Amino acid sequence: MAEQGNLTFGIIKPDAVRAGNTGRIIQHITDAGFRTRAMKLIHMTLEEAEGFYAVHRERPFFPELTRFMSSAPCVVMALEKDNAVKAWRDLMGATDPAKADDGTLRKEFGASMGENAVHGSDSEENAAIEISYFFSRLELV
Ligand code: CMP
Repeated sequence: MAEQGNLTFGIIKPDAVRAGNTGRIIQHITDAGFRTRAMKLIHMTLEEAEGFYAVHRERPFFPELTRFMSSAPCVVMALEKDNAVKAWRDLMGATDPAKADDGTLRKEFGASMGENAVHGSDSEENAAIEISYFFSRLELV
């Protein structure tokens, strides 16, 4: 198994899946040199989305965020690359697509702060927690 520091967790969010952008986003991920260690299409229940985003429980956008994330299927992924957390955040771009740099996924595929196409872990520690929320050890190839 790779060093934990080389792994991050990502989601292709319901807006991007619904818009038919899953394939294009995976192509960007491949072109950027990530190795996919695990990937699956899931449809979260509201309770599963609330558990995943529990750190944001007190935020005003929490109900909207969890409703949206449980509204339709999304793709969850464990991604490997040197400095994976930073590399994936760089490829995603700023949370607000309007502020994201050209060439980033949120710039190309995001519509708003909530419907911003992709999610990524913000630290190695959270990457490990988030990967294990969706994948068992046996699902990491
Ligand atoms: P994500 O990386 O999935 O982590 C939390 C999400 O909350 C974030 O991306 C945004 O899509 C969403 N969100 C919605 N509204 C806000 C907001 N006002 N500030 C920050 N994040 C927001």
